[in-house]
Amino acid sequence: MLLENDLLLKAIRKEPVDRTPVWIMRQAGRYLPEYIRLKNQAGGFMNLIRDPQLACEISLQPLKRFDLDSAIVFSDILVIAELFDIELEFIEKVGPVLNKTLRTQEDLNKINPEFDYEKIEYVYETIKLLKSELNYKLPLIGFIGSPWTVATYLIEGNSTKSFSKVLDLLKNDKSFLRVLLDTITTASTNHLKNQIESGVDVIMIFDTWGGLLEGSLYDEFSIQYINKIQSSLKSYNKPLIYYIRNPKNKLNSIKKLDVDVIGIDSSISISNFNKGTDNKFCVQGNLDVEILRLSDTKIEDEVIKILENTNNHTGHIFNLGTGITPDIQPDKLKRLIDVLAKVSPRYTMK
Ligand code: CP3
Repeated sequence: MLLENDLLLKAIRKEPVDRTPVWIMRQAGRYLPEYIRLKNQAGGFMNLIRDPQLACEISLQPLKRFDLDSAIVFSDILVIAELFDIELEFIEKVGPVLNKTLRTQEDLNKINPEFDYEKIEYVYETIKLLKSELNYKLPLIGFIGSPWTVATYLIEGNSTKSFSKVLDLLKNDKSFLRVLLDTITTASTNHLKNQIESGVDVIMIFDTWGGLLEGSLYDEFSIQYINKIQSSLKSYNKPLIYYIRNPKNKLNSIKKLDVDVIGIDSSISISNFNKGTDNKFCVQGNLDVEILRLSDTKIEDEVIKILENTNNHTGHIFNLGTGITPDIQPDKLKRLIDVLAKVSPRYTMK
């Protein structure tokens, strides 16, 4: 079945589009009062994602307010912890807290290697409901965290700033890290497969903390596992988006990836990213979320700057460089989307 709005898929294939498609990382979430209301009623974030009806409703909330070109499943990269028999909690102003950590082979030995995907069946149910609600109007993005990024949480047990346990393992126990990453890769690949079989149109891997890895460590501890996931899923023929923060020192490795879209943050311009790639990738990004605190004129200027940085090449999906934060006024996002619809036709179609 064809989608009514297939701008996102067209941009991914680098076909001409009559305007630049847009969706926003974390578009369903804490900056929307209707989300906060539902979360308070349900008694917290985990109760939302575990309830397919509610999760579906939340995925649809931003689509009701804004002219977005994709939906994304309301879930989290850390639901995978449930497969490892780890209990996950999200505490206000603290973030995720896990009741167990995986720091040694003994920790890992305690886990049943036969993962039971029934435990996260709620994600697949949400996808089926969403597909039916979306009714071929818009594409739906399913996602996982990169094995490396998920590993940082399973090792630390929470949102750390220092990553001290992770850095310690990287120095002193690479062989355990490899086993852990292999295990997460198996779970993540199957989780993504299940999402595809439930109906998502596009798949995305968030490598939020890939930037921690310097030099060849990035290839060894992140890229290698992205390649494994990509090749296991190749036969499904679903477009794959790889997102990384701070890609600057990693361009050579990133550009070797066999993915359709690279999502980048605002630390590098799209034009600099595209240098030497022969426009192999569709690029997603990369407005600094801070711009959404500024005046409407400033927002327009910055949108134009990003469009100019695409040098009129097809294959651009507009997005922020990182997820939208709770302090952003929904009206500012509306302004951004309207301005993009107004000015982007000048930069596409070529
Ligand atoms: O709208 C969407 O983008 C879909 C859902 C989605 C969530 N998390 C919901 C969520 C997606 C795609 C994610 C990805 C995610 N989760 C990432 C990678 C993307 C990124 O932002 O870099 C990471 C690192 C996580 C892990 C995570 N989940 C953290 C660290 C936190 C707490 C702090 C924070 O950033 O919000 C979460 C909680 C979370 N995941 C919320 C939402 C809406 C907030 C929950 C709340 O209401 O308190």
